[in-house]
Amino acid sequence: MNDSDKSAVKDASKKSVGTVVLKLDGKEIELPLIVGSEGERAIDISELRTKTGCITYDNGYMNTGSCQSAITFLDGERGILRYRGIPIEQLAEQSTFVETSYLLIYGRLPNKKELEAFTTRVTRHTMLHEDMKNFYEGFPRDAHPMATLASAVSTLSTFYQNEPGRAVGGKELDLCIYRLLGKLPTIAAYSHKKSIGHPFVYPDNSLDYTANFLRMMFAVPTEPYELDPGVAKALDVLLLLHSDHEQNCSASTVRMVGSGRASLFASVSAAISALWGPLHGGANQEVIEMLQEIKDNGIAPKDYLAKVKNKEQGARLMGFGHRVYKNFDPRAKIIKKACDTVLNKLGVSDPLLDIAKQIEEAALKDDYFVSRKLYPNVDFYSGIIYRAVGIPTSMFTVMFAIGRLPGWIAQWKEMNESPSFKICRPRQIYTGQSETPYVPLGKRR
Ligand SMILES: CC(C)(COP(=O)(O)OP(=O)(O)OC[C@H]1O[C@@H](n2cnc3c(N)ncnc32)[C@H](O)[C@@H]1OP(=O)(O)O)[C@@H](O)C(=O)NCCC(=O)NCCS
Repeated sequence: MNDSDKSAVKDASKKSVGTVVLKLDGKEIELPLIVGSEGERAIDISELRTKTGCITYDNGYMNTGSCQSAITFLDGERGILRYRGIPIEQLAEQSTFVETSYLLIYGRLPNKKELEAFTTRVTRHTMLHEDMKNFYEGFPRDAHPMATLASAVSTLSTFYQNEPGRAVGGKELDLCIYRLLGKLPTIAAYSHKKSIGHPFVYPDNSLDYTANFLRMMFAVPTEPYELDPGVAKALDVLLLLHSDHEQNCSASTVRMVGSGRASLFASVSAAISALWGPLHGGANQEVIEMLQEIKDNGIAPKDYLAKVKNKEQGARLMGFGHRVYKNFDPRAKIIKKACDTVLNKLGVSDPLLDIAKQIEEAALKDDYFVSRKLYPNVDFYSGIIYRAVGIPTSMFTVMFAIGRLPGWIAQWKEMNESPSFKICRPRQIYTGQSETPYVPLGKRR
């Protein structure tokens, strides 16, 4: 075995299956070829700079594997998504959000006793410290709930100073995990209540995860609250479908921030901020705004598509396209079906759903979208379900964040527990000025 091979297998999870020869400056350098459990191959360049003085350049990380991970498998070409090996379709059909959270975080499905214990622990931590209410007082009423969410999660570090999540493994980390999973829906519902001037509704631990969230969102002290179990179930599936998506922008953020050994709370707060962007989790809000604009201005779907194709003012068809899925997004298929079910169940007819379906139909026949492999993604129909349930548009990305939380936790935990843990610190190709002397203020033009 040569030196490169030795370094490749230093990390036990790396499987070196051969070498790749790179020719540079008249020399030949061997780099290990490693392979994942689903056959994806990668050239291990961890020693490239030491051996050649060169780094790699990969704008947007289109070809870069930043870690090895056993959490989620995604094949964009074949439209496959699996959590810990289990197809997303089977989980959506048979599991729950809480059980799937356990699966993602701890690596396998829990047995009955483990699931009960996990559910009980998460449920015990739904309440917020009373002093956190003062914190909500300080925000303007029209604050975006994603801003409140990121701040409130970061604030958890001030309330739980002894267990900020830096401890890797063991009961301390588990406690941080229960706290985060338990409190995020409460934090989110409080943001909504604050924005509409209603009193906060305390969690009710006799309800399951999603039902409890719906009650905190919509119950008022003056009237009884009737929960529709079908709606709670649909929402639970929606959360489950969002639970993880391997190394996307916010998961990479959680790893990047956590790689400085920042706490779980701080890292998740950063991931929430990353998710907020319209090209990432913010897209579900943008989809509804786009559909609303089409409806309000009476634009024909084909005319809107023409605007997108002409790239007028950078217009994009929100909810379409994906960095990885180039065939179809398996989550979108499940959500589209759930959308019809929920709307039928609630007896809601939403003109935006009709517009969405017309747009999808037209886009899937249009060469611009077909040739670029642009298909509806998870965000295209999820907003219509949220609307039907009564969740305001500004809360859509918050729903995504609640769903994605177990994935962020799993990514952070896996990275921190990895024997090959390293602070993330990419390099760059500097394109600025070469050495330039300082010019005193009086001598500048
Ligand atoms: C998700 C997304 C950011 C992926 O981007 P990406 O992998 O970097 O792909 P690119 O931006 O390079 O797009 C490739 C081509 O398709 C076009 N394209 C991509 N998404 C498009 C969309 N939603 N509408 C119109 N054109 C789109 C680009 O303009 C580009 O065309 P060009 O080659 O003529 O310049 C992108 O598809 C997008 O902006 N989608 C809308 C936002 C969204 O729904 N995000 C949620 C993702 S789950």
